[in-house]
Amino acid sequence: MRRLTANDIRAMKAKGEKIPVITAYDYPTARLADDAEFPIILVGDSLGMVVLGYDSTIPVTMDDMAHHTRAVARGANRALIVADMPFMSFQISSADALRNAGRLVQEGGAQSVKLEGGESVAEEVRRIVGLGIPVMGHVGLTPQSVHRFGGYRVQGKAREQAAQLLRDAQALEEAGAYAVVLELIPSPLARIITQRLTIPTIGIGAGPYCDGQVQVLHDMLGLYPDFVPKHTKQYLHLNELISDALRRYVQEVREGAFPTEKESFDMDEALLSELLES
Ligand code: KIV
Repeated sequence: MRRLTANDIRAMKAKGEKIPVITAYDYPTARLADDAEFPIILVGDSLGMVVLGYDSTIPVTMDDMAHHTRAVARGANRALIVADMPFMSFQISSADALRNAGRLVQEGGAQSVKLEGGESVAEEVRRIVGLGIPVMGHVGLTPQSVHRFGGYRVQGKAREQAAQLLRDAQALEEAGAYAVVLELIPSPLARIITQRLTIPTIGIGAGPYCDGQVQVLHDMLGLYPDFVPKHTKQYLHLNELISDALRRYVQEVREGAFPTEKESFDMDEALLSELLES
């Protein structure tokens, strides 16, 4: 099956097809997501929290992103793989932005990158696209700016903020982005942005009117124990299932109930007698 492209994703909006997106950070989850036919797999810098145990995405490095993107690329043959550009990988200079975007594609095996910001990063977006790398934008609650926002709060509730978010999304489209993530903004604002853009909007905590939806895998599967965002729908409670299985294993080893002959390997009878007699 052929790999989906940024053009395919744009075409989905034109055809009115909704775009489901999921994060993945390793080989097994990338395989599962690919088998479930997600058109896009995002190697999000949310891995800083849900995989590496940091309290924000800010400590995530380019090395972390390249490492996890490579694992995802080995597991997914059909989905468009989007790798997040981590904090400080594109903010200092356009040269940095180009080098690091190139690294995620060349070394990580991604086909696209995502970076946070609107008008202020439009020039970087233009240059990365010019290099031949499709870019997904990300506006609203941009987690790398959590300290400026003073927490993970809904953005765009006030008039000026809402107008700025619309300008940011439009600037990304003009700069050549093929899609834009809208994170944690009021649903009616997401609807207006979605109507005004020709490129798809991918919402997270932005209501039902976006062209697509993205969720963090660990949140929707109930695999991240520290916090469940209000916008998450938990399709599974893996924490409980895994915890239960681990406790049973501990108990069975303690009781000598595992392993049994069924999980063990036999050996040649003659050799066994020889060994016993020696
Ligand atoms: O890092 C991430 O997983 C993201 C999504 C929440 C959009 O940026």
